[in-house]
Amino acid sequence: MSVLTLREVSFSYKGNPKRVLNEISAKFEKGNIYAIVGASGSGKTTLLSLMAGLTTCQSGEIGYKGLDLKQIDKDIYRSKEIGVIFQAYNLLLSDTAVENVMLSLHLSGSTEPDKKQKAYELLRKVGINQATADRKILKLSGGEQQRVAIARSLSYDPNLIIADEPTGNLDGKNESGIMEIFQTLAHKEGRCVIVVTHSKAVSAYAEKELEIADGRLSVVR
Ligand SMILES: Nc1ncnc2c1ncn2[C@@H]1O[C@H](COP(=O)(O)OP(=O)(O)OP(=O)(O)O)[C@@H](O)[C@H]1O
Ligand SMILES: [Mg+2]
Repeated sequence: MSVLTLREVSFSYKGNPKRVLNEISAKFEKGNIYAIVGASGSGKTTLLSLMAGLTTCQSGEIGYKGLDLKQIDKDIYRSKEIGVIFQAYNLLLSDTAVENVMLSLHLSGSTEPDKKQKAYELLRKVGINQATADRKILKLSGGEQQRVAIARSLSYDPNLIIADEPTGNLDGKNESGIMEIFQTLAHKEGRCVIVVTHSKAVSAYAEKELEIADGRLSVVR
């Protein structure tokens, strides 16, 4: 069964009847990385917000593991099932990296006995060592912050990871580092990873590339 399915999903913002998304249908399977590309303003972030349950489509249906997203408790969906990595996604800047990940473990109701050790372990997985994990977010580079955001999204072991420009503002080396993490999550751990990107190098890591234009989603490859 697909992890996520979109069936004729349409969406327009209040006060603007023009459809940003127009009857979009797609299926997303576990074990794969999907890249979504498209011009600025084409509706990529809007689409991710719908997938993340942050907004609701006016018509059509989004299914998560066969259940209509409209029927699922959004708090549980967001805190247990999916990992959302939006750019500069409110990390607490004056807390340390490890504190940020621990907070997410607490919020998701993790039963992990030693949350601090678990948080260090998740950060290690994305290439953040203990010394770096003990520094405040403010004092970390953009690439390191992005890794912390990924570690935080992994704190509750999500099936689906949705990322909006996760490598925007990063150099090529950091970009490939992040994409290698996503490869492990998809190919070795069997998760479904959906990434919005402007970068050709990033979409090259994906099994499937989709493009949004004029409100429609089409398969590039
Ligand atoms: N809250 C909002 N209210 C009204 N219109 C919005 C809102 N957010 C986005 N839009 C409009 O919807 C369209 C799609 O926006 P969206 O943010 O999804 O684009 P995007 O593909 O993510 O662009 P970018 O690559 O610049 O991030 C744009 O025309 C935008 O101006
Ligand atoms: Mg966007």
